[in-house]
Amino acid sequence: PEIGSLSIIVLGASGDLAKKKTFPALFHLYRQIKYISGSYDSEDGFRLLDKEISQHEYLKNSVEGSSRRLFYLALPPSVYPSVCKMIKTCCMNKSDLGGWTRVVVEKPFGRDLQSAEELSTEIGKLFEEPEIYRIDHYLGKELVQNMLVLRFANRFFLPLWNRDNIDNVQIVFREDFGTEGRGGYFDQYGIIRDIIQNHLLQVLCLVAMEKPVSLKPEHIRDEKVKVLESVLPINDDEVILGQYEGYKDDPTVPDQSNTPTFATVVLRIHNERWEGVPFILKAGKALNSRKAEIRVQFKDVPGDIFKCKKQGRNEFVIRLQPLEAIYMKLTVKLPGLEMSTVQSELDLSYGQRYQGVTIPEAYERLILDTIRGDQQHFVRRDELKASWQIFTPLLHRIDEGEFKPIPYKPGSRGPAEADQLLEKAGYVQTHGYIWIPPTL
Ligand code: BG6
Repeated sequence: PEIGSLSIIVLGASGDLAKKKTFPALFHLYRQIKYISGSYDSEDGFRLLDKEISQHEYLKNSVEGSSRRLFYLALPPSVYPSVCKMIKTCCMNKSDLGGWTRVVVEKPFGRDLQSAEELSTEIGKLFEEPEIYRIDHYLGKELVQNMLVLRFANRFFLPLWNRDNIDNVQIVFREDFGTEGRGGYFDQYGIIRDIIQNHLLQVLCLVAMEKPVSLKPEHIRDEKVKVLESVLPINDDEVILGQYEGYKDDPTVPDQSNTPTFATVVLRIHNERWEGVPFILKAGKALNSRKAEIRVQFKDVPGDIFKCKKQGRNEFVIRLQPLEAIYMKLTVKLPGLEMSTVQSELDLSYGQRYQGVTIPEAYERLILDTIRGDQQHFVRRDELKASWQIFTPLLHRIDEGEFKPIPYKPGSRGPAEADQLLEKAGYVQTHGYIWIPPTL
């Protein structure tokens, strides 16, 4: 088979021919994807599918070549085991000339530690770990991927990145819309399973992990597992749950739903680097803005002669979205004749610094990785297990109605109690400072 990439360049792209003929033709070629219907647990449909794939492989190469088969399971996890079994029985690549079969799966990988482990065991009987790609699309975001580079390729951060200098870390996800249209799914999972146990925890790993031996996927994932296994049991006083008013008006959500649509949870990592530093994970739906960011707040300057404390602390902010940016809040002399200080920033805003560069969508990157066979940005089985271990006791208590969400107004910051918890954990808000993204 042909190895390499195919680029189709249309010259005269704005002309009539391109519009009427060339683009439609390309689009139709692209659309030749077959649809085979069948049920998830019967061999007939999968045998038919296998026949179609084999035929396609043969036609494409006109001789027998290696066969590479990527199965993307955009399905509810309840059918993963049966579908995997069918793939294994009927649809594996068969060519003697090599190739592979890979399976891509999406969260939710279970509802708690036990169900996740059961799912992993079932799939593990059929596929080896290098064949399984557990997607967490946050790992495909540009600035999440940049975390490793920032931390381990810059002398600036190496000596500062520890409990001696960092006071607290926040990892925040906010959405300014509710669960409209997917209340039925959401209500069974809630914000912790939907966002915190996977997306935010994966980000935490990259912020907190030690330097991997190399960039090999297993080296990176080994370090992430170590962080997860060092997280202490969650303390009840360090959890605030919320549910926005109106959530239960959705006809697919039960009237008595106890499901949180907002949560702030403090995690504590018991190791030499992070002992005593709170990692505050916060996620909410129907809030006042849409953004995701990492905020690393440094301790106060000892022996301060400038009253810096009043102005605010040094903070290193990685804005994952929207308007990707990395900025450092710092104190500088207020320009002018007086010796007074002001909070300002060193700002690397991507839109301004990398003009004309398109940042790929997370899924684009991750799908490409599955084809290339690079598991660096995918979740390994032991990572998944460790992440469920952290949240399962809390989740069970919420499921049993022992932990109740506090109501909050849609379009607000979430429950006021969450801000109080933030303050108690040590976060100092800078009053009067607002980061203004630079305009082009
Ligand atoms: C998904 C969650 O995994 O991530 C959704 O299920 C959420 O609830 C989405 O809206 C957010 O993704 P992004 O990339 O828009 O931040």
